[in-house]
Amino acid sequence: MTSTIATPQVITQATQPIAGQKPGTSGLRKKVKVFAQPNYAENFIQSVFDVVERGDGATLVIGGDGRYHNRTVIQQAIRMAAANGYARVLVGQGGILSTPAASNVIRQYGASGGLVLSASHNPGGPDEDFGIKYNIANGGPAPEGVTEAIYQRTTEITEWRAVDTADIDLDTLGVVDVAGMAVEVIDSVADYAALMEKLFDFGAIRAAVAGGLTMSFDAMHAVTGPYAHEILEKRLGFAPGTVRNGVPLEDFGGHHPDPNMVHAHELFETMFGADAPDFGAASDGDGDRNLIVGRGIFVTPSDSLAMLAANAHLAPAYAGGLKGIARSMPTSAAADLVAQSLGIPAFETPTGWKFFGNLLDAGMATICGEESAGTGSDHVREKDGLWAVLLWLNILAVRKQPVAQIAAEHWAKFGRNYYARHDYEGLPTEAANALMGELNGALATLPGQVFEGLTIETADNFAYTDPVDGSISTNQGVRILFVGGSRIVFRLSGTGTEGATLRVYLERYEPVGGDLAGETPVKLADLIAAADGIAGIARHTGRTEPSVIT
Ligand code: G6P
Ligand code: ZN
Repeated sequence: MTSTIATPQVITQATQPIAGQKPGTSGLRKKVKVFAQPNYAENFIQSVFDVVERGDGATLVIGGDGRYHNRTVIQQAIRMAAANGYARVLVGQGGILSTPAASNVIRQYGASGGLVLSASHNPGGPDEDFGIKYNIANGGPAPEGVTEAIYQRTTEITEWRAVDTADIDLDTLGVVDVAGMAVEVIDSVADYAALMEKLFDFGAIRAAVAGGLTMSFDAMHAVTGPYAHEILEKRLGFAPGTVRNGVPLEDFGGHHPDPNMVHAHELFETMFGADAPDFGAASDGDGDRNLIVGRGIFVTPSDSLAMLAANAHLAPAYAGGLKGIARSMPTSAAADLVAQSLGIPAFETPTGWKFFGNLLDAGMATICGEESAGTGSDHVREKDGLWAVLLWLNILAVRKQPVAQIAAEHWAKFGRNYYARHDYEGLPTEAANALMGELNGALATLPGQVFEGLTIETADNFAYTDPVDGSISTNQGVRILFVGGSRIVFRLSGTGTEGATLRVYLERYEPVGGDLAGETPVKLADLIAAADGIAGIARHTGRTEPSVIT
């Protein structure tokens, strides 16, 4: 029981709006040095507390990916929550909660929402990135109406409130009283691991491991380390050492915790080397992204979504079938083909996990995914890196086939969507805007034009009407569709913190019976050249090569 104490003084701090606090694709992300300025985090958090829905006695969840500045902001957020009428705060031990685990805690404990402190896959450290995202009561990222209201509030804020109390001990489990508000430091892993054990056939996976199934998981010194040690090594019996870089570090060991071919190259070397284990995977800074590699085969996130959806019935939670499959617009259409064959709806949403929330809440979709290495289901309202890993393991345990064979059989049945994303990072914002502006201006004239032998059928700027609440999101990326089904999408990243990043998404569909075992760069060569012809990438940016290919 917490004892009643006199309410300590609530400090009301006068402040002024700080420009630029508009949440992006995934919350407010800035350099640590920006966040550490006086009033910066406080203004944003107070704006959240001022506008979000919460009843009397509300519970707030707080947790982050353990990056530099995490603990500082958590302590201040606790003091502010106490001064803003929350009855209870649940915080992960050590300030740690992976993003999907935070989503689960919000749902499981009936919280009114949560502050998720992360800049996801961006680097961490005093000179790197930090972020704050607000998730609503369903466990998912706040929808645009809410983030817009938060932003409006940051432009008119005059004061923030906090109680005058010392830092709490974030490392010891238990309940602490902070000015009459109960702060419960909870085990970061336990609830999440229990949920995974309900969804998947841990017995079958354990048996496969005992029978010789091996894997390598790279936690990239980020938040999934403790989760992966507990679930993969302790509960499923993979050998100690299966999880590498398993200790979360404030600077992620100086690495970029983005699970792709560039930043997780060691895992790739392992999986393409002699003595590769059966399965390889990695997750990002906050644990919501996943990278899937079989022995000698990289599975693109778009293909992974399709293959998981096609095989989900092999896991207990999805044995009854899927209600629908949703993907973001730039994600390849591979999942649509699975939906079609299952006779269930396929949804195409703008980039950003928040757009799946309504579909999941309404029971219209069960599995969702994005090309940006995010996959998940209706078990939480965030994408979930370890969930994807465990669903793959469940499928491998039941099918008893290598990843490469599962992929080959999938393509033989559905055809193959060759796919790659080319990123041009750190561009001057004006150059990137000029490129997109010119492209948008040319949309009406593009159909019928031929580039590299490819004829443009349609060209548009993607807009989405949410089928549940009717809200409309415009300007979500330029789509160029070619006769024959190939596609190029151009959009600017909404998650960067420096300059602009142009993303070019390339997709070519090879039907059943076609060349299904080709090399992706070869299959996409004409599209790559056409992309430059259509958008003038080199002309606008001076770049002739992308900075990253995923
Ligand atoms: C975050 C979001 C994803 C989204 C991705 C896109 O990871 O959680 O839902 O797909 O950002 O980022 P971008 O940089 O392309 O806007
Ligand atoms: Zn992430």
